[in-house]
Amino acid sequence: MRILFIGDVVGSPGRDMVQYYLPKLKQKYNPAITIINGENAAAGKGITEKIYKNLLEWGAQAITMGNHTWDKREIFSFIDDAKYMVRPGNLPPETPGNDIVYIKSNQQEIAVINLLGRTFMQPVDDPFRIADELIAQAKKRTNLIFLDFHAEATSEKQALGWYLDGKVSVVVGTHTHVQTADERILPKGTAYITDSGMTGPYDGILGMEREAVLKKFMTGLPVRFEVPKEGRNQLSGVLFDVNPETGKAIKITRILINDDKPLLD
Ligand SMILES: [Fe+2]
Repeated sequence: MRILFIGDVVGSPGRDMVQYYLPKLKQKYNPAITIINGENAAAGKGITEKIYKNLLEWGAQAITMGNHTWDKREIFSFIDDAKYMVRPGNLPPETPGNDIVYIKSNQQEIAVINLLGRTFMQPVDDPFRIADELIAQAKKRTNLIFLDFHAEATSEKQALGWYLDGKVSVVVGTHTHVQTADERILPKGTAYITDSGMTGPYDGILGMEREAVLKKFMTGLPVRFEVPKEGRNQLSGVLFDVNPETGKAIKITRILINDDKPLLD
């Protein structure tokens, strides 16, 4: 089974890239399932119902989230009906939304899980122990388990990758917005990459307007970060090939599309 993952979609530049490139990526790579991280899809922070539905219309089967899940207040009005949205699993038990989403493709079912890191981030429950719990639950239905670990520290992501080697098909890191070149299949069959990278402005800083970020660093004064309205864009993602019977990964391939690395036919 081939799974296409598209990393953190930032604002309208990121959405435009998904709408334009996802059909081309599907034609080129023919994935059975496409999963998108949408936690920055609405103006860089959070997601709206319209955007959630657009991402599905454009070809995603599941949307993963992260630390910005709640940033757009309207999330609370539609998250209970958002069957294909998976929010971080290591939040308090009464939190609305799904902590596992199951997607079907050709009689196969894949479980999608999203967890938050704790290092340099807001306090949340232990992602290692919650991963064990959610994986045990998912294993009752399927061997195919896809985990988006939304975390800041490379060490914490590598640690979870190794901890879950052989227990899940994929551990893909998100949140830092910079794609790492460490993609590999770990010895027991889990495909791992520290960060899939960001889909959005190519000439900003982590997808935000450069000027504001520079001002913040150089003056320390409070600054409002915004997604640039114009300029060049990029798409970052990862392709995973997984044995549908065993759930073990066979291949992992990075995808990066920008003006310096155009998508070739
Ligand atoms: Fe994030």
